Amino acid sequence: MALKFDTRYPSIDDLRTRAQKKIPKFAFEYLDGGCNEDVNLIRNTAEIREVQLKPNYLRKHHGSSLKTKLFGIEYDAPFGIAPVGLQGLMWPNSPEILAKAAFEHNIPFILSTVTTTSIERASELTEGRAWFQLYHPTENRLRDDIIKRAEVAECPVLVILCDVPTFGFRPRDIRNGLAMPPKMNLTNILQAFGRPHWSLQTLKYGIPNFEVLKPYMPKDLDLKQLGKFMDQTFSGRLNEEKIKPIRDMWKGKLVLKGVASEYDTEEAIRLGIDGIIVSNHGGRQLDAGQSTIKPLTTIAEKYGDKIEVMMDSGIRSGPDVARAMASGAKFTFMGRSFMYGVSALGKKGGDHTISLLKTELQQVMEQLCCESTTDFPDHLIE
Ligand SMILES: Cc1cc2nc3c(=O)[nH]c(=O)nc-3n(C[C@H](O)[C@H](O)[C@H](O)COP(=O)(O)O)c2cc1C
Repeated sequence: MALKFDTRYPSIDDLRTRAQKKIPKFAFEYLDGGCNEDVNLIRNTAEIREVQLKPNYLRKHHGSSLKTKLFGIEYDAPFGIAPVGLQGLMWPNSPEILAKAAFEHNIPFILSTVTTTSIERASELTEGRAWFQLYHPTENRLRDDIIKRAEVAECPVLVILCDVPTFGFRPRDIRNGLAMPPKMNLTNILQAFGRPHWSLQTLKYGIPNFEVLKPYMPKDLDLKQLGKFMDQTFSGRLNEEKIKPIRDMWKGKLVLKGVASEYDTEEAIRLGIDGIIVSNHGGRQLDAGQSTIKPLTTIAEKYGDKIEVMMDSGIRSGPDVARAMASGAKFTFMGRSFMYGVSALGKKGGDHTISLLKTELQQVMEQLCCESTTDFPDHLIE
């Protein structure tokens, strides 16, 4: 097996360790943390890893392919890059690095409304293949304008979010001044000085900005005003009244992210949504909630022929992708894994992380004698 990645970092955990050393503490903790006591964060990965798969060694095997079709598009692997806010804070230019790597590897990249590059730039880097995730604006005028931009940028898929009716309660971010409204304090500044490579890159690319929102933001907001602007601009709680006009307006595929129950899946189907991402935001919203692998199997079994069922939260390796696919996911996403990669390795981080995950997943498939990613459920030990 030819290894097409930096062999010093052959696991997501290695990238995480390296990232922790390279970026300031406040940025690492924003990326790495869950919410409250981190129970849901830990449970996500732990329960994925309880899933066991059986090999059929003597089965005829004609080779294994990672290629996976989703919404009529053939991707080179059954995983994509989940939307992450404030990416430029963790590593300057990271959304651009990831969008480009996703394009080169032919996997989906989802741009967050609150990240640090624009819809137009992400579209340019991916030749119109980037998906876009919309945080729901309070004003219809703003909603319509952002959706129009996504349409003009040829985004094939619009993702809306149901799991952020409130800001997650994240003690580290509160301590570090990254809760809303954010505040930069002396400790944060000193932490940045302790990370020269990060500081130099930040100087090179400039202080990260909310590029999607820039056209709507008053100029020269200080951090306190920024918190107020965000609070006034977005209304987190999603409902039928908000989903219907978006469904009417958006001609492409519409995905609801943050689904963790049968009730919400049925609502999504009723409202004409094309796909759901079973997700708990990587354990960042409801610490007392379930891991995503638990509801996934039932949701996929009951509704998988009516709506595309995807999954994220807790996936940290190729075997984890295989476990999620065997449990019923048609496709998977990861947030932190890719951000650890870029924070650890800068511009090489996107390519490295995707290559690593592809290599691991290919090995699992060949080991199982699983030829196609749609065959994973045959290998599930119930
Ligand atoms: C630092 C951070 C910021 C995030 N920001 C967003 C966001 O802006 N929009 C969104 O839909 N999800 C956001 N998420 C959730 C991810 O899209 C995804 O659901 C989650 O990271 C999956 O869990 P994993 O990190 O264990 O792979 C964020 C996650 C992290 C870790």
